[in-house]
This record gives sequence, C-alpha cells and structure tokens, in this order.
Amino acid sequence: MNDSSKHRVRYGMVGGGEGAFIGQVHRMAAALDGELELVCGSFSRDGDNNRRTGERCSLPAKRVYADWQEMLEAEAALPADERMEMVAVVTPNHLHVEISQTALDTGFHVFCEKPVARDLAEALPLAERVAASGLRFGLAHTYLGYPLVWQAREMVRRGRLGAIRKIHVEYPQGWLGTRLESTGNRQAAWRTDPALSGASGAMGDIGTHAFGLAEFVSGHHVSELCASLSIHAEGRRLDDDGDILFRTAEGASGTLIVSQVATGEDNGLKLRIYGEHGALDWLQKDPNHLRFTPLSGPQQLFRAGIDQPGLETVALDRLRIPGGHPEGYIEAMANLYRDMARAIRSDESAAADGPGAVPGVPSLADGLRGMAFIETVLKSHSGTTKWTRFITPDASQGAQR
Ligand SMILES: NC(=O)c1ccc[n+]([C@@H]2O[C@H](COP(=O)([O-])OP(=O)(O)OC[C@H]3O[C@@H](n4cnc5c(N)ncnc54)[C@H](O)[C@@H]3O)[C@@H](O)[C@H]2O)c1
Repeated sequence: MNDSSKHRVRYGMVGGGEGAFIGQVHRMAAALDGELELVCGSFSRDGDNNRRTGERCSLPAKRVYADWQEMLEAEAALPADERMEMVAVVTPNHLHVEISQTALDTGFHVFCEKPVARDLAEALPLAERVAASGLRFGLAHTYLGYPLVWQAREMVRRGRLGAIRKIHVEYPQGWLGTRLESTGNRQAAWRTDPALSGASGAMGDIGTHAFGLAEFVSGHHVSELCASLSIHAEGRRLDDDGDILFRTAEGASGTLIVSQVATGEDNGLKLRIYGEHGALDWLQKDPNHLRFTPLSGPQQLFRAGIDQPGLETVALDRLRIPGGHPEGYIEAMANLYRDMARAIRSDESAAADGPGAVPGVPSLADGLRGMAFIETVLKSHSGTTKWTRFITPDASQGAQR
C-alpha cells in the first residue's frame, strides 16, 4: 500500500526528551514505514534537554517549543499544509488527559501513551472531548501491534480453540525490586508517585497491558474479579505486585499476575488461552512464535514472516520481512503509527468503532476499560467480598477492531 501521492502525516511530540524511554521508541516506530514525519516537539521542561533533543531530531529551532501549550498554539497558527496534524503524548501519566484534551480542542489528532489517565474519573471527560472533536484518538498499547497477537486473536475469532475456558496472563518485571525511586531513577520516581502515576502502580503501569492483551485476543470481557495487591519494597507508596482471579461474561475463568519485584524478570508478558478444542500461548520476549495445541493433533508453531505458512491476513498485514529475520517491539509500535497515519489521511468515518477510533489501534474505549479495570481492582483489593463486579461505564464497552 505504497502510494507515492500520499503525504507523510506531520506529527509533534510532547515528552521523550534525552534520557526518556518511550519517546525514542515512538520516533523510531513513526519513521519506520515513511508514513509520518516529526515536525515539532516539546520534549522536556528542561530547556537544554529540549533543545538538544530537537537538534537530534533535526528539527528547526523554531519548531522546538518551550512548553506544550505554546506548541499547540503556535502550530495551530501555521498554514494547514505546514502545521502538525497529530500529537504524540509520551509524558508520564498525569499529563495524558490534559495534553490530549487541549490538543483535540485545538484541532489535532492524538496518539497517547497508556494508561490513558491516572484514574477513571479523570479519563471519562476525555471521551466527550474526543466525540465532540470529530478527530482521531489512539492509545499506544504497543503489544496490540504485534503480528502474532493479531494471529492469535483471529484464530480465536475463527473458532480454532472452540469456546474459551481459561485465560492466564502474566506480566512479571523485576526492576523495582529495590526502592529505585529514592536513587534518582526518574522512570521509577514518577511511576511510584500517586500524583504522577495514578491510583495504582504496577497494575496501572503493566497490569493494563496484560488486561488489554487478554481481552483483545480472547474477545472476552472480564465481568468480575478478586484482586490482591502488594507493596513489597518498604516505604513505596503504590502497589508493586498483584494477583487477580477473574471471570468473563462469556464464561471463562482466569488469572492475571503482575509484578515489578519479580527478581530477574524483565518484560515477561505471557498469554495462555485454553479452549475446548485447542490452546494458544504467546510470550512477548519471543514475539515471532505462537504455539497452537489442538486437542487432537500435533502441536503447531506459527512463525512470523511474510513468507510463513498459516498466517492470517491481519498478521501478514503487520509484517514486513521474511521469517527468520526478527521483527519486534519497535515494529509493533510502528504498526500502530502506520494505522494512525492511514486513518488521518483517509476521509472514512470510524464511527462503527466509536468516536475517534482508528481501525487497528487501541481506542479510547479500550483506555477507559483499562481504567475501569484499575478501579475494580482497587475496589476488590480494599473490600472483603470474594468477587467484585467489573465497573463498566457506558463509554467503556470495548471497541471492535
Ligand atoms: N507502550 C509501552 O509499551 C510503554 C512503555 C514504557 C512507557 N510507557 C508510557 O509512556 C509514558 C512515558 O514513560 P517513560 O518511561 O518514557 O517516562 P520517562 O520518564 O522516561 O519520560 C518522560 C518524558 O516526558 C518529559 N516530560 C515530562 N513533563 C513534561 C512536560 N510538561 N512537557 C514536555 N515533556 C515533559 C520528561 O522530560 C521525559 O522526557 C508513560 O505514560 C508510560 O506509562 C509505555
């Protein structure tokens, strides 16, 4: 789908200064398919850092703004064929809603990092703003851009597993095993500060990834859960670990386990789904393999690559090269950027997927559902009943992709 007449979607970035983690991943991902172009940024509140990052990105000094408010105002005043069309929000969580809302109000599409907000109450008004704006809103749940995650989802949709009975998802990390936040580590500092991170720590940071992946692939909706959160690092203010039992409205049971104090683990996101006719399992650290175990028949290993047999169109559409040359995390994010760019260029309405939704990209509805998940987990953790019903605000019924 390389149409030379199409323009590169111009985007600006808020956050992602020198020393930040995910901003650079976004820039590499956005550049990968040549469908977007970074035209401006406000990368850091530190003026020198901001300037240096702009220089590294080869931006003219006048398009590197001292703060994001100035960036939105100044860009809106530029000629339509010059100004940015979309903002990528890659700051810590506390700024996601404020920047996204202002960007939408100023006429810009938004691609925002997860979690969409600090809590559900903060996120809900954003849904109204997205609807009122008529603009696109995507959420950077990177793992939902992996080709074999789409393969797994499609296999479930086609009934290859039969009715789903059991879903296990886990996301163990070990990097917060000590109180890194008191050593000057900035990623740890804001993630463990409720004012900047949100109502939950590990569950908000990586539990939302695990939850989103489980619902996305299974097509199921968690209907009730029983959660226990822990703080293992003494003096930490937010959960760094949690275990959840859940049931889905469609009749499955499952577990969701998250930890940032699991010694030696890094990004071990793993999903296992068991159906009446077969099972699937996928590990983020080995994203190019998907194991399928039919009830009667030999185990099969699906392998990523445009030349690999057995892959569904939705997986092939998200691959670039033949098998054996690994594609990974950056390519998964690039798939979300590519779909954002295509939606922004297209005149087609995405109304069927909810206001602002972009086919192929996690939506605001998904973000709200992630926030409802956190809300339900916190309620369950602090309550005494075994099962807590999933809190489902109207806007959070989950988008169809
Ligand atoms: N999708 C994923 O897989 C994934 C992975 C990691 C992080 N994240 C999310 O990305 C976001 C950022 O995480 P990170 O690890 O990159 O954090 P980070 O601390 O490394 O980077 C945050 C950046 O935002 C900048 N910033 C803060 N306030 C700003 C402001 N007012 N104006 C301009 N810039 C500002 C900081 O200077 C820094 O450059 C978080 O919401 C996090 O949850 C997502």
